[in-house]
Amino acid sequence: MKELHALALKVEPGRLWILDQTRLPDEERWLEGHEPTVMVGHIQRLSVRGAPLIGVAAALSLACFAEAGASERALAEACAALRGARPTAVNLMWAMDRMKGVMDAGASLADLIREAEAIFDEDVALCEAMAVRGSALVQPGESVLTHCNAGALATAGIGTAVGVIRRAFELGKLRQVLVDETRPLLQGARLTAWELLRLDIPHTLITDSMAAILMREGRVQRVLVGADRVAANGDFANKVGTYGLAVQAAHHGIPFHPVAPWTTVDLDCPDGRAIPIEERRAEEVRGYGDLRWAPAASPVFNPAFDVTPVALVTSLVLDRAVLTGDQLREGGLSQL
Ligand code: MRU
Repeated sequence: MKELHALALKVEPGRLWILDQTRLPDEERWLEGHEPTVMVGHIQRLSVRGAPLIGVAAALSLACFAEAGASERALAEACAALRGARPTAVNLMWAMDRMKGVMDAGASLADLIREAEAIFDEDVALCEAMAVRGSALVQPGESVLTHCNAGALATAGIGTAVGVIRRAFELGKLRQVLVDETRPLLQGARLTAWELLRLDIPHTLITDSMAAILMREGRVQRVLVGADRVAANGDFANKVGTYGLAVQAAHHGIPFHPVAPWTTVDLDCPDGRAIPIEERRAEEVRGYGDLRWAPAASPVFNPAFDVTPVALVTSLVLDRAVLTGDQLREGGLSQL
């Protein structure tokens, strides 16, 4: 396989590495991921995360496995295991179905490797296209709020929502980024803040519950978030807390935009009710890492994602178009 480099993933001859995102921001530790069973664990633990990147990582892991001489049967089993590693981000299923399509067509090893490399390269290009379209929406002097991490750590390229933010900053339009901490696993505080610091983009970290005050005080002009799955009617799933932000943005008349590549669109889901939502371990809410602050016996509800209805979407930024809420409701996604 050719050498590939992204912020949180790299391919070197015979080896696939992922940056362990559970250790950021304090430690930059790279983990091997060329064995699919190991990669399944990395995806489930969120060592590698973000809708586009888990699809890319799974495809490359499968290609490495093929390169190492895995049998057809072992490859098929690995593909199914990777596909089922997390349920909400459709990019993972999309990438595995694409690899399976090539395997089912009796492909050679070279074909499989080319497909995985193409999935990586395409994601880089999709990020660029979203950045161009999305940054055109940002007006000079705006402060933009984002949730979770939809940046380079979540894709093979410059990110989705954070890619837009980065391009707006490069164009001199951005005042600052307000970064939601993003409970319970703190992707905003640990990952987005880390990325923005590296890029020298002015930002302020807030806890999730502070967004409403800043909106009321006129200190947020736009909300830009990623997506894990966009249904045919424009409802979309993203990191839990996104729905609440959308309600607050609508109340304060603030434009609200999910940013996603077409690989995140699932036309087989008619609306948000059909999107499967991952529920995660209670310990993630009772504490963080080794630290627990809630009673160990307290029952917990821990959905990793929520669904924002299209009624709260100002426009969806895709790589190939920007669709308004009205266009989405009129079936605009199926006409792209
Ligand atoms: O659980 P995670 O960290 O994988 O959740 C990630 C998100 O919710 C992102 O906002 C989404 O995947 C878009 S990433 C470009």
